[in-house]
Amino acid sequence: MRRAVYPGSFDPLTNGHLEVLQTAAQLFDEVVIAILVNPDKRPLFSVEERMQLIAEAVKGIPNVRVDQFQGLLVDYIRRIQAHVIVRGVREPADYENEVKLAHMNRSMEPSAVTVFLPTHPTLSYVSSSLVKQVAAYGGDVRAHVPECVAVALRKKYMNTP
Ligand code: PNS
Repeated sequence: MRRAVYPGSFDPLTNGHLEVLQTAAQLFDEVVIAILVNPDKRPLFSVEERMQLIAEAVKGIPNVRVDQFQGLLVDYIRRIQAHVIVRGVREPADYENEVKLAHMNRSMEPSAVTVFLPTHPTLSYVSSSLVKQVAAYGGDVRAHVPECVAVALRKKYMNTP
């Protein structure tokens, strides 16, 4: 079984993340999208909310499951017996940082290989933080995030049902 982990904050999931996930799902038998529980950050969406939104957004992809983890990614991938880490790269600058993470992870777990997937060029400017900025001021983010995320953002920021 070729199991890959796609880790991240996903606060919230964007169409860029989704596209990376769809590609990964074609390459591996199972992809676990794993949300980092980071006590040092104050996310907009709780881990439970993010898990629900992701589960809703990926329900058409049978070999994807959603999970959460705390602590080191390498400890998590050992626990779930995955050897591949998937990371999306939007632009060259991303790669610089990502390659450092990949080397650090590999130094701790030699079997951990990171696979970089370029995001679709039409989505390369989409990030969770920009989407939140736009949504906070009432902007329309429906082109950038799955429908369930757009609705959840509206509820958070606009207090609409
Ligand atoms: O979506 P993000 O915030 O870019 O994701 C970053 C993430 C979660 C992949 C990274 O911070 C991570 O793996 N954190 C877990 C802690 C860890 O293992 N750190 C060492 C990696 S060098």
